[in-house]
Amino acid sequence: KRVVVMISGGGSNMLALAKAASEPGFPAEIVGVISDRRDAGGLTKAAALGLPALALERRDYDSKAAHEAAVLDALAGFSPDLICLAGYMRLLSGAFIQRYEGRILNIHPSLLPLYPGLHTHSRAIEAGDAEAGCTVHFVTEGMDEGPAIVQARVPILPGDTPETLAARVLTEEHRVYAQALRDVAEGRVRMTARS
Ligand code: GRF
Repeated sequence: KRVVVMISGGGSNMLALAKAASEPGFPAEIVGVISDRRDAGGLTKAAALGLPALALERRDYDSKAAHEAAVLDALAGFSPDLICLAGYMRLLSGAFIQRYEGRILNIHPSLLPLYPGLHTHSRAIEAGDAEAGCTVHFVTEGMDEGPAIVQARVPILPGDTPETLAARVLTEEHRVYAQALRDVAEGRVRMTARS
């Protein structure tokens, strides 16, 4: 399966997927990386791995629609079977999601449905939760609400800050995203049409 990874920042999840995909027998290959920020650190990581990487800077376009049209054009050029959002900090339009219905995955740093949106770790700490974690899910039109594929849990420890918790969760993100991509690429998991 051909996979394009979309990033906005450091790209540690993109790196984890690329490493997993380079293992013999992995059922997917990363054929390209697209960023909406030209200064995304993940672009350097992608280049170091020899992955084709494109920066489509949002502010180079005069509207969200124009930017998204450019992203869709670039995606079409890679003929992806699957798209993995990995720290991509932009919402996709309904038209975009329908174009790749059931074939877009995202990783979110919380135990969805808890804490959709931003600042998930500080919210979990503030709430006094005993656990935090991450969720790989299929992308649907609502933000962070598509069917979950896999979750991982970590303890919230006394004295945790959002940064220490984020680091503990990120390690799990890297592990479960590769597992989720394997499961979806092998056809073992698919997004069923919701009733
Ligand atoms: C991660 O916590 C991810 O869950 C969130 O963005 C953070 C950074 O991801 N979406 P990455 O290092 O850019 O992959």
